[in-house]
Amino acid sequence: MRQSRSWRIGIAGAGVLTVAAAIASAAGAARVAGVLGALLLGLGVTVAVDIRSRAADLAHMSRLAAKRRTEDGEAAIARDADASLKHVEQMQQMERRLLVAVETERLRAADRHREALEGQAETAGHNRASFDALISASKHLRADIELRTKSLRGDVLDDVTKMTRDEVRQVEALFQVLTRISPRALMPPTGRWAIDARSLTHLLDIVAEEKPRNVVELGSGTSTVWLGYATEGLGTRITSFDHDEEFASLTRAEVARHGLADTIDVRTAPLQPCDQADGAPWYDTAVMGDLEAIDLLIVDGPPGGTNHPFARRPAVPVLASRLSPNAVVLLDDSDRSGEAEAVRQWCDEYGFERHDVGVSRLAVLRRPTTAH
Ligand SMILES: C[S@@+](CC[C@H](N)C(=O)[O-])C[C@H]1O[C@@H](n2cnc3c(N)ncnc32)[C@H](O)[C@@H]1O
Repeated sequence: MRQSRSWRIGIAGAGVLTVAAAIASAAGAARVAGVLGALLLGLGVTVAVDIRSRAADLAHMSRLAAKRRTEDGEAAIARDADASLKHVEQMQQMERRLLVAVETERLRAADRHREALEGQAETAGHNRASFDALISASKHLRADIELRTKSLRGDVLDDVTKMTRDEVRQVEALFQVLTRISPRALMPPTGRWAIDARSLTHLLDIVAEEKPRNVVELGSGTSTVWLGYATEGLGTRITSFDHDEEFASLTRAEVARHGLADTIDVRTAPLQPCDQADGAPWYDTAVMGDLEAIDLLIVDGPPGGTNHPFARRPAVPVLASRLSPNAVVLLDDSDRSGEAEAVRQWCDEYGFERHDVGVSRLAVLRRPTTAH
């Protein structure tokens, strides 16, 4: 800016000098014109030198500028290259990180997948083991059920066979009784709560053999009626006791229906505390005061088993003094443990012996002195 101003001042000065020289020449002032010309020349030289110098400076500056430009360009290129390089490195680093991250994640996913598969396999293994155990258990259960069914079928078959055989034996026994006795009316049933046909036939055998004059029966019912028929014409007196007035009445009615009331006396003897059989209650003896010389004692009550296992045991201890010397004692249901125990005690303590073992459910007890 400053250079261009000095140039404008120089050009203006040269103009002024030229005009002044021309005026001086025209005015005939050669010397002034000469001086002005010399000044103009000096100015021109100065300008030329300055131009040259300036040109040299410019060239120098231009070279410098070019050089700087080149250096700057290279540096910039280098910087750019560095930056690019760094950028590329950063990109590569990022790429590497990305790859590492992707690979890591892929490996983790593979691990998770493998673990899941292993878990599934393990679960499947457990399920399989449970399934196998279940199948095995069900096979055992089936085998067990088959075995039990077979055994049950066998037991049921045994029971049915036994029952059928027993029923046939009962019918056989009844046929035998009916050849000796002709009932005048429908007889009360045998079996269940009443004496069974086989024991009844056994009883009637003994009655026929003993021809007892005094019969005492503990527990009235079907047997009472059969006894009445079996002793008809023998002059036998039958006294039957029942703890229950309702059943005593039923028996009385049956006795009357069959026309046996003259020889059979059915009495109600409620159960009372008794000290003869581990606290088992027994018949009220107040209604037994007139009993004596009993030839046949039939013990079929009080109801045993469920009420008290030794319910019938007091019979002999209580009535022993009323028995005739040749008395026969019969105990029904002798296959039950309480009754078997009573038989043992009566034999041990009252001198009885057991006869006809296995003939029926009756235990037949006689004193040894009895001639049989
Ligand atoms: C073991 S049962 C035997 C009765 C009788 N000695 C007989 O063989 O028919 C004993 C008791 O059964 C009861 N009893 C009597 N008649 C009955 C009937 N029709 N139904 C159910 N129980 C009866 C009486 O209380 C009797 O003392």
